Formats: sequence, structure tokens, C-alpha cells
Amino acid sequence: NQWTREARYRPLSDIAPEVYQTMKEEVRNSPWRFSYHIQPPTGLLNDPNGFVYHDGTYHLFYQWFPLGPVHGLKYWYHMTSKDLVHWFDEGAALIPNDDADSHGAYSGSGFIKDDAVHIMYTGNKRDADWVRHPSQIVGHLRSDGRIDKHLPPAIPNVPAGYTEHFRDPKVFQEASGTWYCIIGAQCDDLTGCTVLYQSEDAETWTFLGELKTQYPDFGYMWECPDYFELDDKGILLFSPQGIEPDGDAYQNIFQSGYMIGEKLALPELTYQHHAFSELDFGFDFYAPQTTQAADGRRILVGWMGLPDISYPSDMYNWAHALTLPRELTLQEGRLKQLPIRELDLLRKRTIHAQSTEINQAMTIAQAETFEIELSNLALQTTQFEIHVRAADQEATVLTYDATTQRFTLDRSRSGAEVPAVDYGTTRTVQLEQPLHQLRLFVDRSSIEIFLNDGEAVASTRIFPKSTSQDITLIGDLTADISIYEL
Ligand code: FRU
Repeated sequence: NQWTREARYRPLSDIAPEVYQTMKEEVRNSPWRFSYHIQPPTGLLNDPNGFVYHDGTYHLFYQWFPLGPVHGLKYWYHMTSKDLVHWFDEGAALIPNDDADSHGAYSGSGFIKDDAVHIMYTGNKRDADWVRHPSQIVGHLRSDGRIDKHLPPAIPNVPAGYTEHFRDPKVFQEASGTWYCIIGAQCDDLTGCTVLYQSEDAETWTFLGELKTQYPDFGYMWECPDYFELDDKGILLFSPQGIEPDGDAYQNIFQSGYMIGEKLALPELTYQHHAFSELDFGFDFYAPQTTQAADGRRILVGWMGLPDISYPSDMYNWAHALTLPRELTLQEGRLKQLPIRELDLLRKRTIHAQSTEINQAMTIAQAETFEIELSNLALQTTQFEIHVRAADQEATVLTYDATTQRFTLDRSRSGAEVPAVDYGTTRTVQLEQPLHQLRLFVDRSSIEIFLNDGEAVASTRIFPKSTSQDITLIGDLTADISIYEL
């Protein structure tokens, strides 16, 4: 294997510019490159980081290993946008070239202080014996697009009682002005949890302790926590590792989800909350992060990928993308997730827009990158299917069964190569309401499914031939159907 430890920790600055240019061109010519998702120019993308709005601009960074489709020396890659849809490539902003982050600038969050974008992230450092020493580092974005690190680290050590798995600070501010950060951790007894720190200036932090939840034993590590408030409720997101499959739930290698509760009582660290639910029933979703939009909406972006899984694009030297941004709202005690309304800006051409009657089966259009919405769905058969990116032997198949209200996504025939088959090739969600509305966003190598105005969402990578473009409905039904080329 070419990915020796040396190769994984080689900095981008070691590579001659013309060699890197060739890598970029090879990636650009790869099949399955996205048309409207954030993807790495080369190498591997993972978690969204530092998502924040400031002065007319959204900033969204991502975890990036430049040199190949593996996890190695991580940088923060910087994207900016005025509308959350069209993104401008700002290049690498956070470079892991200090002692405290010598083995990677790991995940973290953004916040606005003194009218400037600030971040807090985990410096990943390993010593000569390969023992990990995480620290939490504050920085700010300079006008030249680089992050200035405020060294030494704001939180130089792991507090007593926790292991070296201590990372991913998410900073938030109380109305009173006090700053907090929540960090993903593993307790000495090898269970996952989160801890909180408090600060008056977001530079000097005081350890408060562990958040008291009703999940003292729920996986071995909680990565990428996020805390925010919506309609007077306190919502905690995190990505627990080590949860066993349970019915339809927890089918992927790692999960991410949320709990809704009362607002965190700080600094007492109590949290009255309901049960954990997964955010997404697709195959490829992890480590989401939220921010507040200019108009107050809560927006979430996730990593459309998972750790420790190989993907067909690996052979072309790149991996993964971010999901589309979603708006989160609370309805009847549940989190609803809708594609942000700005995504309408992606529509290039209307392919189909009419009330349509389907008898048995009908190929209604052909497209590679598109959005489709079905509303006012009336079914005459108990089951119906939608096939997208279909041709010959290939199809990504969505099935709804009206008797059970179960909706299934099957990617077993999505293309010649299907990732993570050891984790199965179907995912199913049990809907609370009969299916009445469905919206799909399909890109060259992904599908994002939104059911019943945000009741359930699935994000999934698929690797079809570019010529597989049939959109086919099977069953007896009528619906208002709109299809837009994106
Ligand atoms: C989650 C994660 C984080 C870590 C980062 C490293 O995918 O493992 O916990 O900070 O990725 O890239």
C-alpha cells in the first residue's frame, strides 16, 4: 500500500506546483465529479468546519487531506458564498504547520467576535511514540484568507478523566455575552460524551465539566457535537461511534443524530432531553455542523461520506463531498429538515411541470443532474417506485409501500461499483405520515431525498454511468410532478 505513514503526513508544500497541477487535472477529469456540490480539488474531504455568516458572506471550511483519498495530514479548505448555493473557492486557509497541529488541523467551528471571523479547532499532534496530544486552538481569519492561530493553544491539555479522543470544539455564545464551547470526548471508561468550557473573551477558557445526559453508555466516542437553540428548545447534535444496528436504525458504520430538550442549564451542565434520533437515513452522512443564517434560520451541512469506507472515486485520487444545506425547524417536537429555499437558484431549465397520471410504468424524463418534486401524491396501488439514474441494468430504486408507510432506498443496482456493501444495500425509514410529498436532488454521484416536507432525509452516494439518465415511475398514481435540470 502506497499510503505509508510518511505519505499520509506529507505536507502539500513538499509537492512541486507542477506535480500538484497534474494531480488536479487528473481529478478534474474523473468520472463522478459533482456539478453543484462542494467537493475537494484533490484528495479527501471530510467534516464541514467553521460554518459561519459574517457581513454578507457565508464561510464554510472542510477537513481536507490534499494528496489522496485517505485520512492524513488535515488542512482546512475554505469556501465562501453570498447565497449558500454558489461557492467561491478560497483555497487552503488553515495549514497544519505548528507543533500543536503537526498531525492535522482537525475539526472545529466558527464564531464572530470583534467584527471578525474566528475559529476554534483541534490541533492534532502525535509524539515520537505516536501517542496523540490534542489541544484546542483559537484563530481568526485574516483579510488575505489565511487563518492566524492564537498560539499557544487556548486549551492545551485533555482534562483528567478523558482519553486522547478529545476534539471538535463548537463555540456558541449566550445572550449575556458569555462564550461556551462543547467538545467531543471519550471518558476514561471508554464511553462517549461531551464536555463544556466557558469563557468571557473566547480566548481564555475554563473547564466546566461533562454534560449530564441520559446516555451514559452510548458508543465509545462522540464526535463533532453541536449545540443550538430553536423555539426555546435546546438541541444537541453529535456523531456517536460504536452503536450497533437496531431495526432500521444505525445501519451505517457510524451514526449522527440529535436530541431535543430543554435549554442547557449552564454552568450546571444539566440537560433534560428526549431520545436520540438519527438525522439522515441514507448511506453516506456524518459529522454535520450548523450555523445561523443572516435571517435567523438554522442551517445544517453534513459530510456526504463516512470514515473507514472506500469509495469508487478513490482510484481517481479524490473522495467525498458536502451535503446540500438544509434548514432545520421544530415541528411537533421533531426536527424537520428542508432543502434551503436558495437551492431554487440551481434550476437551469424546467424539464417537466404538470399534474401527471402514471399507469403501471412511465419514463417521464431523462436527466443526469436534476431536482424532482412530487406533490399531491394519490396512489391507486399500494406500492410505487421511482427509478433515477437508470438505464439497462442500472437504477437507483426508491420504493414506497402505502400499507406499511415504509420508504426504501435501494442502491444495489446504482452502478457497477457500490460502496460499503458489507453494511447492506438498502435503507428504510418508517414514515409517521402517509407519503404525500417527495423531493430529490440528484447530482453525478449522489442523491438527497427529502420526504413529507422534511420529515425524513437520506443522503447517499451512487456511482452510475453518466449515460444512465432515465427517470421512471412505476405504479398507478397521479401527482404534480416538477423536474428541473440543475
Ligand atoms: C470526524 C473526525 C473528527 C476529527 C476529524 C479529523 O469525521 O474524525 O472527530 O476532528 O474527523 O479529520
